[in-house]
Amino acid sequence: MKILMVCLGNICRSPLAEGIMRHLVEEKQLGWEIASAGTGDWHVNEPADKRSIAVAKNFGYDISKQRASHFNKQMFDDFDHILVMDQNNLRDVLKLAGQEGQRRKVKLFLAEDAEVTDPYFDSALFEPVFLQIEERCKQLIAEFLDQD
Ligand code: 4NP
Repeated sequence: MKILMVCLGNICRSPLAEGIMRHLVEEKQLGWEIASAGTGDWHVNEPADKRSIAVAKNFGYDISKQRASHFNKQMFDDFDHILVMDQNNLRDVLKLAGQEGQRRKVKLFLAEDAEVTDPYFDSALFEPVFLQIEERCKQLIAEFLDQD
């Protein structure tokens, strides 16, 4: 299974989702491939925001080696699930989608159409965002395993 996490800049939220998910998947030896991308291209090839790197490190995850990439149409073919952090990401990703098979791969990361708040302009949000993403990653693994 191949899962892509998507946010706007690919430096705050989706790198956390990528790093946490990969860590948990490796612990369980599931062999799934995890990546992330941004709908914007400003930060391509940059490491994650230092606040995301720091909060992840505090909780035992190393996301320091990840680098930002820009979401592109090829990713609809390369991944089975494309999980987006908010409604703007959903709109921007679906703009690039072709037929129904591609659209069906795209879902909000959180359950019940909730959004992960962008913490970029409020440093106090990084820890709650981390905790929300970590909890949801655990749920998603259980849900995907259930669907198998
Ligand atoms: P992210 O946060 O989408 O969670 O990575 C952002 C990071 C950077 C920008 C916007 C959102 N930016 O405008 O540069």
